[in-house]
Amino acid sequence: MSYPESASVQDGSQHGLAATRFVCRRDDLGVGQMRAFTVGDRDILLIRASPEQFYAVESECTHAEAQLELGELLVKRCEIECPLHGGRFNFTTGEPTEEPAEDPLATFPVTVDDGDVRVDLGGS
Ligand code: FES
Repeated sequence: MSYPESASVQDGSQHGLAATRFVCRRDDLGVGQMRAFTVGDRDILLIRASPEQFYAVESECTHAEAQLELGELLVKRCEIECPLHGGRFNFTTGEPTEEPAEDPLATFPVTVDDGDVRVDLGGS
């Protein structure tokens, strides 16, 4: 079942969360795991670094269009390693930490509201 873009059940406006979008339930993603989601018109990679810490970055590597969910999550280093050329990014800031990655990933604030993981796409 899908909802139109303006449906309040998806945009959170009934809960004062109009700027955020629902991604998944908290326990849909285990601690130390990452998964790609399409939210609105953005492809994001959601990372659960600890029971209560979630991060979201764009899911496509800025170097050459690889999908980062196929790479490795290095939770203790707060890094994602790209599967194609081994570039790395800090998933808390989006900044590249290992070449050949040079440009940062977009990051999106994540909140957890009554078990719902929500992401702020910044109005996009
Ligand atoms: Fe990711 Fe090259 S595509 S480092």
